[in-house]
Amino acid sequence: MPHHPLSPLVILGSGYTARFLWPLVAGRSPEIFATSRAPEQHLSHVPPAQRLRFDLSQQDTWTNIPRDADLLWCFPATPFELTRQFATSLTGSNRRLVVLGSTSAYDLGDSQEYPPPWIDETAPIDLTKPRVQGEEYLRREHGAIVLRVAGIYGPGRNPLDWIRTGRVGPTRKYVNLIHVEDLAAICLTALERGTPGEAYNVSDGTPHTWEDICNTMKVHGARDFAGRPAQEEAGKRIASHKLLRDVGLQLAHSDLYGSLHELESAAH
Ligand SMILES: NC(=O)c1ccc[n+]([C@@H]2O[C@H](COP(=O)([O-])OP(=O)(O)OC[C@H]3O[C@@H](n4cnc5c(N)ncnc54)[C@H](OP(=O)(O)O)[C@@H]3O)[C@@H](O)[C@H]2O)c1
Repeated sequence: MPHHPLSPLVILGSGYTARFLWPLVAGRSPEIFATSRAPEQHLSHVPPAQRLRFDLSQQDTWTNIPRDADLLWCFPATPFELTRQFATSLTGSNRRLVVLGSTSAYDLGDSQEYPPPWIDETAPIDLTKPRVQGEEYLRREHGAIVLRVAGIYGPGRNPLDWIRTGRVGPTRKYVNLIHVEDLAAICLTALERGTPGEAYNVSDGTPHTWEDICNTMKVHGARDFAGRPAQEEAGKRIASHKLLRDVGLQLAHSDLYGSLHELESAAH
């Protein structure tokens, strides 16, 4: 059943994604807040009355979060013990909680398969990773809807710049991406229609190799790595059918190449 859209809402952690969330939620209910560890410096886009100071590592800031508010948790849910204590301090209400996780949660083991297998939400996750422990705790014990998010790109985060600067090379490794505007819409839709306690993969649905991206976009300055390892990483192919089926959202940026062209045009 859709969630009532007029509950107070707190965006916990206001970085890149949260900046794109804010315009979507600003008119949603009279009580929308965004948090930062340094609200005066980092929340200039938020009216002063809607800024909250919150730092997971400073317990005295936890009480700044309204008790009955829904939460969009937009930073890594770690360290575990503070995550557990903070979440426990919130219990007693029927708040909805959406937590942004990462597709790095999936543990591929030593698989050499190429192309790599499709990964849905039933694939094994790596519980030795602190953020995965935090996310799974929140999902199992507090009904969090965990979004396992692929690489986030958009204005100011152009994957072609990652190639130009050598952060990634034109290899056969698969990459999964999601445009930040789609991610922001998905966060809100998951909050309203997601099933508590479920995990959802979030990507645009079409994995690409970096080599294909380079060739299609003809990235100038794409440098092949000298000393490239004999066995290249295969990467992952993230399946996002569950999200699209359950929350029923049309992505605005399902065509990666179209969106990359837009980013390139905006930069020149
Ligand atoms: N970037 C990617 O490609 C990618 C891919 C998959 C998943 N993710 C995950 O998706 C989420 C959103 O990503 P993003 O790139 O939008 O994140 P981001 O820009 O790093 O924003 C997160 C914000 O949360 C606040 N924060 C950090 N640690 C905190 C703490 N201990 N207590 C309270 N607030 C804290 C910081 O804001 P203040 O300094 O103002 O407090 C930070 O700017 C993150 O969990 C990220 O790990 C990212």
